[in-house]
Amino acid sequence: MIDQRDARKREAAMAAVAMVEDGMVVGLGTGSTAAFAIEGLIVRVRDGLRIAGIPTSERSAQQALEGGIPLTDFAHHTKLDLTIDGADEIARESLDLIKGLGGALLREKIVAAASDRLVIIADEPKLLSRLGETAPVPVEVVTFGWETTAARLTKLGARPVLRKTQDGAAFRSDGGNLILDCHFGAISDPARLEQNLSGIVGVVETGLFIGMATTVLVATSSGIVRLDRARS
Ligand code: A5P
Repeated sequence: MIDQRDARKREAAMAAVAMVEDGMVVGLGTGSTAAFAIEGLIVRVRDGLRIAGIPTSERSAQQALEGGIPLTDFAHHTKLDLTIDGADEIARESLDLIKGLGGALLREKIVAAASDRLVIIADEPKLLSRLGETAPVPVEVVTFGWETTAARLTKLGARPVLRKTQDGAAFRSDGGNLILDCHFGAISDPARLEQNLSGIVGVVETGLFIGMATTVLVATSSGIVRLDRARS
């Protein structure tokens, strides 16, 4: 049986799927909410919608392929029209995000950066006044010297925890890297933190997505709330 959070995630996903138009190159996000969007796109493709998808993880690629969504890649398209993805936290005012608890932050950020529009789908508990209130910031690092990278992250105020799989092995991203979940607590200046984290040797990418989301669709008890980022 589908629980209430999943039902809300699905509602947000369906609202985003309705924004997809014939002929678009669409970024396919990763995570439980994005999986509902891929499900919805599969139904629309079966009904005749013509799109090409660029997946943000092996998981999403498999789901899309099994459902019959044609896939493409950056060798054929360097720009995407629209990407639909989930998030772990969303800052209510700025629409800045924490992403990557699902481990796909690097591909997600590459796809988001190449997209004309990034539509984020979520249920209400993820909408917060400040990032870091409930989630750590996932930071993808190369394996070599990860302990010294972690020590540098600590100097920036983080409490880094090496992500592990259920059987206790180090988690590996699709790119073969490690992830350090960095606990900061509520973050006062996410843009500055993102810059500082990105400047650390050994850091591949961070889960702070600053100024990237164009639209956020949040499923609440009273329906879908749409938030659009003010153009700068
Ligand atoms: C995947 O790496 C993440 O960025 C997900 O988009 C994020 O963790 C949200 O996942 P859920 O939709 O499963 O909460």
